[in-house]
Amino acid sequence: MRLNASMNTWAALALSVAAFVPLISVATAQSVSPHVARRQQDMKAMADAAKSINAMFKGTSPYDSKLFKAAAETIRSQSGIALSALFEGSVIATGSKASSNIETERQQFDKLALDLGAHAAALSVAADRNPDALGPGMRMQAGDAVAGGGPLAKRIDAARAATSMSAEHAFHLMLQTCTSCHANFRVESN
Ligand code: HEC
Repeated sequence: MRLNASMNTWAALALSVAAFVPLISVATAQSVSPHVARRQQDMKAMADAAKSINAMFKGTSPYDSKLFKAAAETIRSQSGIALSALFEGSVIATGSKASSNIETERQQFDKLALDLGAHAAALSVAADRNPDALGPGMRMQAGDAVAGGGPLAKRIDAARAATSMSAEHAFHLMLQTCTSCHANFRVESN
């Protein structure tokens, strides 16, 4: 009986290994370099973080300042120089959607990466300042839309010097930064 049992186990193992072999070779044929995998992974993590912040603004998830901050920090820590570093040198690679524009317009790419970090940092600070509730202070306000332009904007800016823009406005600007980088520097396929 013992022998039978162990032979069965061995047979089952051999079968499952055999079943794995074709899977492994398919995976190898389609795999991207670790470098490309890393930057795509970081992008996915940023997308998940942005989704969780969005859900809190929309009220589909309860506001939790710690989760909000953690999500903002996920994006902040993977933006700026860290983001640029993942696209250094030659960016065209198998399985990558990075555009060659990154190589020719690197300054603009780096600027968008830094902008992303600045907006994420603003969100992180907002979470610290609002530990209990996503209150009106975090919401988009009339001044946000005109900030930076005209005498009205200047008056509003002065009045709100300390808090500058609302977290919600920073969030919108952050999403615009994702979109504008993708529009310029990501292609449908390589
Ligand atoms: C400075 C430019 C830049 C910014 C800013 C940026 N991305 Fe990306 N993103 C890229 C590039 C380039 C790729 C393609 C990477 C590749 O395939 O090698 C990409 C790919 C992605 C992908 C696909 C990943 C995959 O699995 O292939 C997602 C999702 C994504 N970005 C989400 C975001 C989100 C969300 C933000 C903002 C919070 C953001 N990105 C900000 C440049 C940027």
